[in-house]
Amino acid sequence: MTPSTPLLDVRDLHLHYAAGGRVVRAVDGVSFVIQDKGEAIGVVGESGSGKTSLANALMGLLPKSVARFDGSILLTGQDLAALSDERYRREVRWRRIAMVFQGAMNVLNPVLKVGDQIAEPLLLDNRTDKRAARARAEQLLERVGLSRDIYGRYPHELSGGQKQRVVIATALVLDPDLLILDEPTSALDVSVQAQIMNLLKDLKADPGISMLFITHDIGLASDLCDKIAVAYAGEHVEFGSAERVLLQPQHPYTQLLLASLPRLHGTERPRPMPGEPPDLTAPPVRLPLPPPLPVLL
Ligand SMILES: Nc1ncnc2c1ncn2[C@@H]1O[C@H](COP(=O)(O)OP(=O)(O)OP(=O)(O)O)[C@@H](O)[C@H]1O
Ligand SMILES: [Mg+2]
Repeated sequence: MTPSTPLLDVRDLHLHYAAGGRVVRAVDGVSFVIQDKGEAIGVVGESGSGKTSLANALMGLLPKSVARFDGSILLTGQDLAALSDERYRREVRWRRIAMVFQGAMNVLNPVLKVGDQIAEPLLLDNRTDKRAARARAEQLLERVGLSRDIYGRYPHELSGGQKQRVVIATALVLDPDLLILDEPTSALDVSVQAQIMNLLKDLKADPGISMLFITHDIGLASDLCDKIAVAYAGEHVEFGSAERVLLQPQHPYTQLLLASLPRLHGTERPRPMPGEPPDLTAPPVRLPLPPPLPVLL
């Protein structure tokens, strides 16, 4: 890898599903780059815009209903899209790319101690002995802002925020380079959400984990992320630095998304997003961009 080889370089990725005799274009020609260690990209989009499908594709988790999967996913120059399932499992998933799944805090195993759930991947394939695995899990509990005593607790004994921290610790156990977070705070109240966002900022700075942060909340994404991709109907209609996307949105959908947010200052009221979510079996035709609207913020 040369110094300029990006950590992740996704090029023209397509993931379509076959569903009920129709084709759902969940990821439709997506390209983006995560250049450096500690860089975070936010993927912002409404429900059904293909965010989780993109994340699953990066994790090499494709359902049986796949109708088309192509493009390239270059991780430090190596094309993951060409890897067998077995090599993906052994070399990439959790080791190099880990993920906090959407709603994961609600599917922690209720009959296993949370510490054992964090340590479990270390014990697979005899990677390490039990004592070392426990020590690593305890260290991770502390890293995500919990006490070591939490190790012996069961999921129902934890608050939502504590469970989400456990899930993040689980994703970190094999020291991945890239952490995908799929709506990690959407089930949490605003104060706990802020604490989890602070934890993510912290992990981004040290040890410098790169992140793909998936959310429907462009404000949250701009708080954490260096760059933002706006997902619409399986495409990334806009991609740029968080500041540029927020202050000078080029795409009409981004402009409407920003106009629909309440503002702290000024008298302008939020304008609801017009229309219906697009049908991904017959996605809208992409037209050339009109000249940008005046800046609204
Ligand atoms: N395994 C599958 N088979 C067929 N269609 C699927 C499958 N998984 C997702 N889809 C469809 O693909 C589209 C994109 O779904 P996806 O879950 O990626 O959206 P999302 O942006 O993550 O939405 P949300 O914000 O609600 O989580 C949707 O129309 C969904 O119904
Ligand atoms: Mg999703």
